[in-house]
Amino acid sequence: MYSNFTQLQKGVIAVVGQQWGDEGKGKIIDLLANSWADVIARGTGGANAGHTIRLGEKEHIFHLIPSGILSGKPNYIGSGVAVDPFILLSEMEKLAEYGVSYDNLKMSLDAHLVLPHHIIIDRARESASGRNRLGTTGRGIGLVYSDHVARFGLRVVDLLNPDRLREKLERNLEYHSKELNQPAVKTVMKEGPLGIDGFLDTNLVLESYLEFGRKLRPYIADTDSSIRQAVENGKRVLLEGAQATLLSIDHGMYPMVTSSDSTVAGLAKGVGLLESQVHICLGIVKGPYMSKVGGGNFPTELGPAGDESFPNADINSENPVEQCIAVRKSGNEYGATTSRPRRVGWLDLPLLRYAILFGVDEFVLTKADVLDECRVIKICTHYIYSGTDEYDMGERVLKPGDQVDVAFGDDYLLEYMDPQYKEFPGWLCNISNIRSFDDLPEELRNIIKFIEEDVGREITIVSVGPDREQTIIR
Ligand code: IMP
Repeated sequence: MYSNFTQLQKGVIAVVGQQWGDEGKGKIIDLLANSWADVIARGTGGANAGHTIRLGEKEHIFHLIPSGILSGKPNYIGSGVAVDPFILLSEMEKLAEYGVSYDNLKMSLDAHLVLPHHIIIDRARESASGRNRLGTTGRGIGLVYSDHVARFGLRVVDLLNPDRLREKLERNLEYHSKELNQPAVKTVMKEGPLGIDGFLDTNLVLESYLEFGRKLRPYIADTDSSIRQAVENGKRVLLEGAQATLLSIDHGMYPMVTSSDSTVAGLAKGVGLLESQVHICLGIVKGPYMSKVGGGNFPTELGPAGDESFPNADINSENPVEQCIAVRKSGNEYGATTSRPRRVGWLDLPLLRYAILFGVDEFVLTKADVLDECRVIKICTHYIYSGTDEYDMGERVLKPGDQVDVAFGDDYLLEYMDPQYKEFPGWLCNISNIRSFDDLPEELRNIIKFIEEDVGREITIVSVGPDREQTIIR
């Protein structure tokens, strides 16, 4: 069996997370950017994403610069991305410090802009929302996309046109003025680096955004046209997904989602392409465990997020909280953007069966090495609906005790999904130096076979460690 992508001479490959993000997309994009692609493009999300780029001896977390930047090939930030110009410029400065060229970086003139008050409102809403909090990354993402849809958004091109920028900024601040005068907002503003006045002072924001525009001008272009052109000219185009399918505003576990469509359809649209122009969608799956940051239900979760008791946690502990801590440590599961400890749990097939409904051709399995020392590996094969009442969904009515094989795109219902598991023996050896699929331990190959047969997609790449060479391509 061979991965189809190695044989793709030209066309579009999309890399899309199939769970709640942080599946390890960055490494796969970096690999394909260097070995396969002519052009790399991002189409969704913003500085809520985070990937690690090694510069010199040090690793740095980047949020907006595409993961393919080190390849030196054209890297595009498409029209669907929420651009925070302040963060983008600081990432460019960081690259310059290490002598990494970003001459080939371009961003779409149509991409929407994060404004300082977006961040403030995002944080204020979160701190006021108690147990229903989404656990956003606090980067203003929800506000950018809702302004976009409400037709109050500012776009990158506005940075270059002072009159237009002033007019739109004033309108946008006016639009948010009621909320900006709420006490919760004032509290966050007091804590913020610009203090109370900085965020509301139109002239100050205008001045700093015009300055951003002057610095970013060489990198602003109609990237969506360039990407379409690249496809027409038979180039190899790599699309970098941000977040993941279960976080999609349209198909994720609503409302515990981000605010862009992080499926392959949203990714294609965010760079000016059609989903049908994507030749291969590589679905990235962490496993056989998974992780989540932020709020919402997580049926197979092992223990409470953030619990750091058990300093020498044993990955084989009978206590799920201890086991959770051990998996988190072994996988270094701490948020790249927020440093929050990620929630971890077992691989959930009803969620994976749901995610692939949105278009996946083959899988990349990442971070299996995290479970090297695990004696028993559990995989959730289906749920039992544990609600005490019937749940009316129109054509379908869920009854207590019903079996559910494919999850629903609804965070509320996930709370009543009681996970049922199949247990597999672990492989109990270090797989990080293995480079051929046939050399993987039989126990892991059996798990891979089980997942492939269950979900109907081949796992064509297995990642056994963070380095580029720790990758097995079948
Ligand atoms: P927002 O995108 O910052 O508005 O956050 C909305 C939800 O998406 C929260 O639960 C975040 O934790 C989650 N989220 C956003 N970006 C990422 C990501 O890159 N990885 C994992 N979770 C994310």
